[in-house]
Amino acid sequence: MTEQIESIAPHGGTLIDRVLRGDEREAAIDRARDLPSVTLTPVAISDLELIAVGAFSPLTGFLGSADYHSVVEDMRLSNGLVWSIPITLPVSKEVAEGLREGKEVALVEANGHLMGILELREKYTYDKVREAQMVYRTTDAKHPGVKRLYEQGEVLLAGDIWLINRPSNVEFPELRHDPAQSRRMFASRGWRSIVGFQTRNPVHRAHEYIQKTALEIVDGLFLHPLVGETKPDDIPAEVRIRSYQSLLRDYYPPDRVILGVYPAAMRYAGPREAIFHALARKNYGCTHFIVGRDHAGVGNYYGTYDAQRIFDEFKPEELGIVPMFFENTFYCRKCGGVVSSKTCPHQPSDHIVFSGTQVREMLMRGEAPPPEFTRPEVARILVEGFRGSGSPPTAKKPAELHRQGSTMTASQRAKVLILGMDCMTPQLVFEQWRDELPTFKSLMEGGIWGRLNSTIPPITVPAWMCMATSKNPGRLGFYGFRNRADYSYERMTIANSKAVTEDTVWDILSRDARRVILIGVPQTYPPKPVNGLVVSDFLTPSTKNRYTYPPELKAEVEEISGGYMLDVENFRTEDKDHLLQQIYLMTEKRIRVVKRLLTTREWDFAMWVEMGPDRIHHGFWKYFDPSHPKHQPGNPYANAIKEYYQYLDREIGQILALVPEETVVIVVSDHGAKRMVGGICINEWLRQEGYLTLREEPNGITPIEKVEIDWGRTKAWGAGGYYGRLFLNVAGREPQGTIPPADYERVREELTAKLEAITDPQGRNIGTRVFTPEKAYGKGYKGIPPDLIIYFGDLDWRSVGSVGHGSAYTFENDLGPDDANHAQEGIFIMHNPRFKARGEIKGLDILDVAPTVLAIYGLPIPPDWEGKVIPGSG
Ligand code: ADX
Repeated sequence: MTEQIESIAPHGGTLIDRVLRGDEREAAIDRARDLPSVTLTPVAISDLELIAVGAFSPLTGFLGSADYHSVVEDMRLSNGLVWSIPITLPVSKEVAEGLREGKEVALVEANGHLMGILELREKYTYDKVREAQMVYRTTDAKHPGVKRLYEQGEVLLAGDIWLINRPSNVEFPELRHDPAQSRRMFASRGWRSIVGFQTRNPVHRAHEYIQKTALEIVDGLFLHPLVGETKPDDIPAEVRIRSYQSLLRDYYPPDRVILGVYPAAMRYAGPREAIFHALARKNYGCTHFIVGRDHAGVGNYYGTYDAQRIFDEFKPEELGIVPMFFENTFYCRKCGGVVSSKTCPHQPSDHIVFSGTQVREMLMRGEAPPPEFTRPEVARILVEGFRGSGSPPTAKKPAELHRQGSTMTASQRAKVLILGMDCMTPQLVFEQWRDELPTFKSLMEGGIWGRLNSTIPPITVPAWMCMATSKNPGRLGFYGFRNRADYSYERMTIANSKAVTEDTVWDILSRDARRVILIGVPQTYPPKPVNGLVVSDFLTPSTKNRYTYPPELKAEVEEISGGYMLDVENFRTEDKDHLLQQIYLMTEKRIRVVKRLLTTREWDFAMWVEMGPDRIHHGFWKYFDPSHPKHQPGNPYANAIKEYYQYLDREIGQILALVPEETVVIVVSDHGAKRMVGGICINEWLRQEGYLTLREEPNGITPIEKVEIDWGRTKAWGAGGYYGRLFLNVAGREPQGTIPPADYERVREELTAKLEAITDPQGRNIGTRVFTPEKAYGKGYKGIPPDLIIYFGDLDWRSVGSVGHGSAYTFENDLGPDDANHAQEGIFIMHNPRFKARGEIKGLDILDVAPTVLAIYGLPIPPDWEGKVIPGSG
């Protein structure tokens, strides 16, 4: 029995949720078109989002004048609740004049991206100097928080807000856990006491020491670095996150720490901000909060422990979160560890103390801070972050380097970039979310696109290799990842790269001296030599294996990604928060590798295949598709898939900005996805129809491999998967065959007719399609395909291989929850800047991709390739 863990109450008692979803959101988008709009600053962008997701509960909007004055003067909202920082929306007088109280205002980013709506209740002027004095305890314009205050608009807009869209530029999406999510994550780990740690710096030895000291007392640590706007000379979030990840991997127990990012802006308000940080972390579900020396301080504006003392001004129950105070800590040579004046008897001369400024100066000089200050792993990441110009690398920089380094002739050579999105689905990209995926949309509008017919069966293996070789599965000799090795009942082989004996498009390009980069392309493990680089795919057993070509590349991939992820573990899980986090983490790591390799290597052909879309479809389909039998309206994951598509769309936009303009970009998927209605238990069905006999009744749901089949009384058996595989027990072929070879065709036809007649439990025909290997692949296929290939309900139903269900139908998957099945058609978009063809093309086939690529390079197409050249390539 699992015990229900009670989370700590949010500030004010209720976790605020002002994120619009579904119809309400659509209606708000419509309304917003005709509303006057206000452009948000980076601080306002993060405040808006944090109010909406409840991080600033009980705030439901930007403060009105009564609350504002009360907060500034007394550190309380007008209802008496503790609140230490005024959350306001400043605009210029001119902007304010155009807005009317009592009306709605659209809130947009500077790039026009709509974020939300403000129900404007009030606009008022305010005393900046007073706010500076009270909140920042200084009126000095050199203080970064005060400087920002002095520069902002003269009028404050107040009223409740609604969030329509997240910010357009979301960094570290996989680490952004909203308060509702972090609360669920803590509860699912069974944590009752959780300490939050705020930081705007890399984790140094002192931080690690205080975190771990706290962790001795509580159940879990929520490492929650702030990643919103900071001072320009603070270490950029990207570098910091890499340092946290490397430290967590090697020095923290993974089951006791969660890393999440806090997208708030830094205010540098010292004591007042410490209270504010603590209350926000309470909203995220923390019970405790670390306040060390000079928390949220800057320069010498605050005393070392002012941020601790301020907590005395409130009763513990008014705050509702327990502060954990730490003395100033540092390294002591004599003690040989991190200490404080409370724990160390030695002289200051034995102590190693660094200021942030000193460290920054060392980094600027390319020197690593010493191990007493920061662990070498972290030092390395910091030095690398600062390498070169004395400032950390930005997204643009590698591209500029790349462009400078490439000659005219190199750039005139054809370049093809294939962005392979496993399972990405035409109805979502081309129709439903087209307007919300600006990168995909612009590629479509500037090129050709259409639905891409996949292989039979439409499964990752064999589909991607069929795409790369322009040969159907029968010609390659594999029909899935696992295939029959011979006509025995049990021997199977796996189809990894060694099973691929035909030329791929990159083999041909390699021989033509073109440089290729392959990242994540299925069936490239174990990696074979190419003229270039290979990072193999999700079927690689583990990152312990040699998964790159050349082998030395592995260390670089591990380093770029902070520990590479080949796939998400166990995507058929009920722990959806964790799954979502893992999918983003995996994709983010791979994208880092993609960006790095594309910008630091010369290449002519690059292909990246991302498994994330497949994993997210299987894990989250029922949440967004109202036609799914298990759909629940208003569930928290309704937008999970769409947001992930939008994330990929943004990342791809960034990648495209890194490659030369003349690159031919192909976005392609190996198949699509659709809702899964249920499962047909193929072996139960065969038993019912008298084709399969077991020696004994299974005890509960049992894999077919684990039960004894009475082969002398069996004509057929099957296997599970997204499609059904059915094998006949043929005399003289299988060891104990029962079907005389002369009857083979008749039995197959009889079974085909019965399979096609299968109904759902209500008696309605489900539209099953059945293929023979001859029909699917032509004569002369290789290997051992199933005798019949079955799409139950045209893939609305999956095939379930286990027995003991007591019925031919099941609505639970024997392998774990899985909401989606594969669909026959994937996507194809080709953007070729040199070609004028535009628009939708019908009749595209997965076997057309490889010849199309060769045509772009003007290379001859092998005569035995099956596909055609898609117009738009030359
Ligand atoms: S900030 O967000 O509070 O400005 P910083 O990263 O400097 O960020 O500190 C994070 C937390 O660690 C704060 O609570 C701070 O007080 C505490 N801290 C940082 N360095 C030390 C130290 N040497 N000794 C004790 N506490 C520290």
